[in-house]
Parts: sequence; structure tokens; C-alpha cells
Amino acid sequence: MKIGIDKMSFFTSDLYLPMEDLAKARNEDPNKYLIGIGQSKQAVIRNSQDSVTLAANAALKIVDDSEKEKIDLILFGTESGVDSSKSGAIYLQSLLGINSAASGVELKQACFGLTAGIQMAMGHIALHPESRVLLVGSDIARYGIGTLGEKTQGGGAMAMIMSANPHLLEIGTESAHLTKDIMDFWRPLNRSEALVDGKYSSEEFINFFKETFENYIEKENESIANFAAIIFHLPYTKMGLKALRSVIEDLEDQKVKERLLERFEESRYLNREVGNLYTGSLYLSLLSLLHAHSLKAGEQIGLFSYGSGAEGEFFTGRVVEGYEKYITDETVAFLERRTPVSVTEYERIYRSFMEPQIDDCETEFEKDPAPFILKGQKQQQRIYEKQQ
Ligand code: COA
Repeated sequence: MKIGIDKMSFFTSDLYLPMEDLAKARNEDPNKYLIGIGQSKQAVIRNSQDSVTLAANAALKIVDDSEKEKIDLILFGTESGVDSSKSGAIYLQSLLGINSAASGVELKQACFGLTAGIQMAMGHIALHPESRVLLVGSDIARYGIGTLGEKTQGGGAMAMIMSANPHLLEIGTESAHLTKDIMDFWRPLNRSEALVDGKYSSEEFINFFKETFENYIEKENESIANFAAIIFHLPYTKMGLKALRSVIEDLEDQKVKERLLERFEESRYLNREVGNLYTGSLYLSLLSLLHAHSLKAGEQIGLFSYGSGAEGEFFTGRVVEGYEKYITDETVAFLERRTPVSVTEYERIYRSFMEPQIDDCETEFEKDPAPFILKGQKQQQRIYEKQQ
């Protein structure tokens, strides 16, 4: 039985910060951000959005009335959860009106959470072939104003439906996995912003990629020439390029090298426009690649997932015949409709985020055009609403 991704969608803020403006405000050469980091724009997430509303806004695009009845499992990958106890999956089920027989949990392992969900969904669907699983990866990447990580912030959510006989990507049953206890990026319970040793994390990203990729090639008796594309978790898009270069630099076959570099450029297009998404990042890159419509049915893609702390996994997928029909221009059109904000306005919005607090409060939800919004909190409960 073929199992994989049947539908996918993306949501982020209607506001963005041009990276050139951020570079100038921080007295840096814009090319460092545009080329050295590989980012053009950064999503500026409003204070009326959190990981639950971002996920609901993404899933709304693919969960129609028929899906609401059929979905039997919701897997919510995030490292920006809104509650230490209650799962984001329950909020999502209720906001979208998904049947109450469906079960759901939240999965946390830095940016790896959604990939963990993919592997769980594979097993679940193998046991229950009629199943339709809703997966989301939803996060806000916050490092702090003026920090080294600031230029790699962003946020948004990917939503996917996985099923048997999928329309987009059949996922391979084999993968190569690596787990090591390291402190490259973490977020203590008292903080809304991540702590990161960025250079160490970037080095480990490449080490994890090379080790899992080489293990996979050996275990499955594969060759790099059999991959039409290799795509990556992209904390910033230059990171993926560096990882790709680490395995193609000594290749003699120039055609394979060129093909992998061309496909990589297609796969980073959407991520360049948004910034880091944490759990959703690899899958935004997949959407970006499929969006280019350059892959042919049956071609093999390699996917590398990395979650600091750290877990890395290399797995594969094969493109399904006719996938182009289901990957429209909607995401690009949605990103083009966004509004730029100044550095001063970005900093104001950044500082206005709801911190853990006892008092009732309201967000600036009236300015937010998104369907699902966070209105604030009352008696320490978050108040969500769907706008007409
Ligand atoms: N034109 C073009 N490129 C330029 C440039 C210019 N004028 N000036 C600098 N660069 C290049 C540098 O050569 C470097 O490229 P390289 O990485 O290929 O060597 C790149 O821009 C970045 O410069 P660097 O000085 O290393 O940046 P930084 O110290 O300010 O920080 C990060 C970069 C990525 C380390 C930092 O933003 C960070 O920690 N981000 C968090 C990322 C992370 O760890 N996420 C979680 C892990 S998945």
C-alpha cells in the first residue's frame, strides 16, 4: 500500500519585514542577510496569532466538510505550544469542527515534531487504510530584538492530510535516524525566546545530515544520482545550501550536481519569503519545490529533517502522477498580498506579545484579517474566535 501526503497548505502573517531594512537598521550589509543568510523577507507575526490560530488558519484551507467527518487522528507538531498540559490538537479539532471521535496529541522535539508525526501517521495508516490524518507544524520563531538570531526569525504553519493512495507524495518506509543529546538550541520554561548557539547548531546540522544521508545510501544501496532533489529543514535558506554542498562538492557527474542545485533553488523560494517556521520549515520547502512543477511523476526526493537538541532524519518520497493539479498558485498569491512593515513597527509588534500572566488582557485582534484569531485571555484561558 502507498502511503503519503494527500494535501498540503500553508499560512503565515499578512505582515512582513523586508530583510534589507532590518540589515540597515542593524548596521549590516544587506547582502549578508540576502545572500549570506539567504532570506529576503521575514514574517511579522501579530500578537493576535499563536501556534493554535496559525495551525487553524493553515488547516482551514484543506479541511472541508468531508474531511471533518473522515479525519481520525490529529498530530500537532510545535515547539511554541500554548499550554504545558493541554494539546494544541484539541483546540484545532474544536475550531475546525472535526468530528469528536478523532484523537489528537501534540508532538515536541524542536523542529523535528512534524516529521515525528509523519512517521506515526505512516504506521497508523498502515494499520487503518481508510484513515485520514491531519498533521500540522505550527510555530513562531523568536530570538529577540538585536540578537544574532534575529535575522533568522519568522513563523507560520504547514497543514497536511496523510492517507493511503495520496495525490502528492508517496513516502518511503525506510529512513536513517540520528539522536544525540547536545545543547545547540533550547528554550527554558520561563522564556518565550529561544537560546541558541547558532554556529554550533549550523555545524551539527551538517554533521547530522551527512551521517543520516550516508547511512541511508549505504543501508538502501542507493546512489545520490537517483535523487531528483534533496530538500532540507531551513532555519535560514543558506543552511540548506551549505548542507547540500557538503555532499555534492566532490561529485564528478556535473549534471547531477547542477540538477540538485537547481531543484534546491526551487525548494527555498517560499522559505526565503517567510523566514524560519521551525516544525513546518521542511514541508514549506517541499511545497515550494512541488510548486515549481519541475519534478516528474515517480521521481525520488530526499528529505532531511533536523530538530535541535538534537534529532535528524533522512527519508524519501516519490512524486505522484498528476500532483501538479493539486499545487496551485494560491500560496504565492497569498504571500504577494502581504503588507511590509517598518523596523519600528516590527519591534513594537514583537514587544506587544502576550507573556504568561494572570491578568485578563486583549490582543490587537481587530487589525488582524486572518480567519482564526486569538482575542486575548480571561481567567487564564485563551479566547479564540473565527471571524466572518
Ligand atoms: N555578502 C554576502 N555574504 C556575507 C556578507 C556580505 N556582505 N557578510 C557576511 N556574509 C556571510 C558570511 O560569510 C556567512 O556565510 P557562511 O555561513 O557561508 O560562512 C553568513 O553571511 C552569515 O554570517 P555570520 O557572520 O556567520 O552571521 P552571524 O554570526 O551574524 O549569525 C547565524 C548567523 C545563522 C549563526 C545566526 O543568525 C543564528 O544563530 N541564527 C539561529 C539559527 C539556528 O541556529 N537555528 C536553529 C537551528 S536549526
